[in-house]
This record gives sequence, C-alpha cells and structure tokens, in this order.
Amino acid sequence: MPHTELIRRLPKTELHVHIEGTFEPELMFEIAQRNGVRIPYADADEVRAAYAFHNLQSFLDIYYAGAAVLLHEQDFYDLTRAYLLRCREDNVVHTEIFFDPQTHTARGVAFETVLNGIVRACREAKENWGIGSKLIMCFLRHLPEESAFETLKTALPFKEQIIGVGLDSSEIGHPPSKFERVFAKARKAGFLTVAHAGEEGPPEYVYEALDLLKVARIDHGVRSEEDDALTARLVAEQMPLTVCPLSNLKLKVVNHLGEHNLRRMLRRGVLVTVNSDDPAYFGGYINQNFIELARELDLDTDEIRTLCKNSFKASFMDETEKSVWCRRVDAVQAV
Ligand code: HPA
Ligand code: ZN
Repeated sequence: MPHTELIRRLPKTELHVHIEGTFEPELMFEIAQRNGVRIPYADADEVRAAYAFHNLQSFLDIYYAGAAVLLHEQDFYDLTRAYLLRCREDNVVHTEIFFDPQTHTARGVAFETVLNGIVRACREAKENWGIGSKLIMCFLRHLPEESAFETLKTALPFKEQIIGVGLDSSEIGHPPSKFERVFAKARKAGFLTVAHAGEEGPPEYVYEALDLLKVARIDHGVRSEEDDALTARLVAEQMPLTVCPLSNLKLKVVNHLGEHNLRRMLRRGVLVTVNSDDPAYFGGYINQNFIELARELDLDTDEIRTLCKNSFKASFMDETEKSVWCRRVDAVQAV
C-alpha cells in the first residue's frame, strides 16, 4: 500500500482522541465481568456489529453506554494503558487526551478516580516508552452550563494535571456561546481552551469558538470551509484544526473519504492535523486514518510529512521540543 511504511515511521502527535472512545470491546467485556456489570451483547464481535452509525448522536448513545462499565481507578488505568500501547505501535510520541468527567461523575464515580487512573498510565508510558501526554477535560455540551461550572470547580485542585478544557458531545443546538462564561472562568484559572466546532454544526459555531471561547485549536472544524472568510482567517491565524477522517466517514459527515476536504484545506494553508477521535468505534487508530486518507486523497509524501509536522506545531508542547520533532520528521527517509 502506498506510503504505509513512511506513515508508520514518521513520529507524530495525536491531538484529538477521547479516552472513552478507545474502549475496545474485548477490554469492555473484561472490565464488565470483573465489575459485575451486564452488557447486552454476547461477545466482542456482536458489540462491533452494533457500531453502525448514521450521525453523531447515534454514536454518542452507544459511546456513553460503553463508558458506563468503567467504575474503578484500575479501569481507567487499563483503558489508558491500552491506548498508550497503540500509540507506541503507531509512533505517536506525544498525545493530548480528552476525558469526559461528567460521563462518570453523573454515575457516582469520583473525579479523582477517573483522573488518577488516567494519570498513572500516562506517567508509566512516559517512563517506559518515552511517550509524552497532556490531558484535556471536556464539558458535555448537551448538559447545562451549571453542570460545567460544577465540573470546573471539582477540577481546580487538580489543575497541575490538566492542561486545558474542551467541549464535546451533541453539537447542533448547543453552540459554544452556551459555555462562554465557563470558558472565561477556566481561562482565568489558567486552563488553555479548545472546542469541537464545525463537525456537524455550521461555520457560525467555529466563529463562536474562536471569538467567545478563545480557543487555541478547533476540534474537527471541517465545515469551516463552507465560509470563505472563515477559512482565510484560519489560514491567517494558523489556527489548527484537529481533523478525524475515519470519524467523519463513520458519522456520515462525509460519504466517502475521497470526498474529504482535508487536502483542499491543507493546500489552502490551513494548519490541519490527522487524528483518530474514537478509534475503537470508528475502525482505526491514527496510522489507519493516515493510510486510508493518503490512499483516498492521493496525498504525496510531502503532504504526509507536513501533516506530521503540523501535529507538533499544533500541540501544547514547548516550542523548542516542537522544532526538534519537526526536524526529526524531515530526517525520516522516504520509502
Ligand atoms: N464529537 C462530539 N463529541 C464527541 C466526539 C465527537 O466526535 N467523540 C466523542 N465525543
Ligand atoms: Zn472528538
């Protein structure tokens, strides 16, 4: 397959992955069994067969049901460790992981239980495999502003372990403006900000994320291209988009990967990156996203390299580290 070996060899960061979306059915069964939680499927294959989505909401319903199996710190540790093992396989040297505290605190699981399990796995991945990571806490946008405020308050004592806040879940009908005040408070407390916008929602939501939430990156953002002035602004500001090709395909944001606008945006000068979003649900981790996209959009080696360098540029690593990694990307021999 063209470019597969180059993609495997290139170091990269992942900037858009939900830890709850890395929950593979096999691990789900294992944890459900030890926690005495029933899953309404016979085995992992039956679970996978249920993963046929027609939009974002149809996915979210199943995604939240799966996450309900997670109860103890060890569960969050096992989940995160399994994802970081996949990072090692895909040459992801740094990852910025989303987690959804409200999905768990609403079920009576303590915030610390979630965070401690994730942090322990991240620390070990750094020590054992040299993989760096940062954590981004997402607010569920379908829930009221009040719940996001409560979550922010709960997170304040753990500020040192969380680099930023984000916004995910059902986009349409829940614009960024709903969370303007929470994000202002989060920024004041020292959190960086990102937000899902322009996945299913209109370009207006991307403007709101930029102007009201003051984000450092837009998650997805693929619908930005419908607005020429917005696209020009993304280019001028070098505002990163964390694009997730297989997610867009599985959630029917695009009908075929060959129709994806990533290459057009890249050629226009938008700082686009490639990410996996919820790889256990969408059929592939980051390299699979690169491989299928490169094949369907006929990306050349320079474009693949640029996407990897963009992943470092768009990350929250320090500037010196970013340039070291960009030089390493350039040094990888073409195959
Ligand atoms: N969009 C919105 N919310 C999400 C997603 C997504 O792609 N994945 C997990 N939660
Ligand atoms: Zn996402």
